[in-house]
Amino acid sequence: MLSGKVAVVTGAASGIGAAVVERFLHEGARVLAVDLTGQSLDRADLLAVEGDVADAETWRRIADMARTEFGRLDVLHSNASTVVRAPAHELSEDAWDRQLSVNLKATFLAVSACIGMLRESRGAVVLTSSVHAVVGIPWHPAYAAAKGGLVSLGRQLAVEYGPEVRVNTVLPGPILTPVWDGIGEEDRQRSVAATAAGRFGRPEEVAAAVTFLACAESSYVTGATLLVDGGWTAMKDSA
Ligand SMILES: NC(=O)c1ccc[n+]([C@@H]2O[C@H](COP(=O)([O-])OP(=O)(O)OC[C@H]3O[C@@H](n4cnc5c(N)ncnc54)[C@H](O)[C@@H]3O)[C@@H](O)[C@H]2O)c1
Repeated sequence: MLSGKVAVVTGAASGIGAAVVERFLHEGARVLAVDLTGQSLDRADLLAVEGDVADAETWRRIADMARTEFGRLDVLHSNASTVVRAPAHELSEDAWDRQLSVNLKATFLAVSACIGMLRESRGAVVLTSSVHAVVGIPWHPAYAAAKGGLVSLGRQLAVEYGPEVRVNTVLPGPILTPVWDGIGEEDRQRSVAATAAGRFGRPEEVAAAVTFLACAESSYVTGATLLVDGGWTAMKDSA
């Protein structure tokens, strides 16, 4: 599905990003895998980039590497994120700024640095938002604001850079990754019970949706959002 393509994946060392890297490699892509720590990405079959996606310098480096190592860029998957759980009045300004930077501004920086190559290759951008973009969940004010912003930004970028570049956004629901490690069993079971699927999603199930949006199978899909949430938001609607 991605044979001969070059892809950048952020948040690539863990969870959904790691599953996307595996799937992209399986589909024949060459991958630049970006994360805060390059260590767990140190493998022969990909190019690891250690860096903070909220830093413009990281994106200059990524764009340079794509150009010099591969001479092209076809897919950008902006997926890294960070979360601080607290009600708005207890969230520090620094924590607010950091979450907006990593979870929203990073996509602006990424597209600014990579759009030239993406246009040349008639490429695809896939953003990872969240069901937090469409449903309020206590203790996530900055995270939700950033994820909601990503949905608008994705739509905006699709309009700005079409027809050359397609831009789409996935909205995962409860996916079993390390972000759930610190969350108690009762809260986990409540989230699972709130899905029509009756279980957590697997990172590979989000990777399948990202791969669809990244490849030519979705050639007439742009400016769209795709829920990958086991029916979590549908259950909310029916309540
Ligand atoms: N797991 C879920 O239930 C769920 C639900 C909805 C949305 N999401 C979204 O899916 C995406 C992936 O989440 P996950 O569950 O796989 O998380 P994860 O914590 O397993 O992986 C996130 C990765 O991003 C990296 N990262 C964090 N800040 C970074 C930065 N500034 N620069 C570079 N890398 C950075 C981390 O080091 C980590 O490897 C995120 O955008 C998250 O908001 C996850």
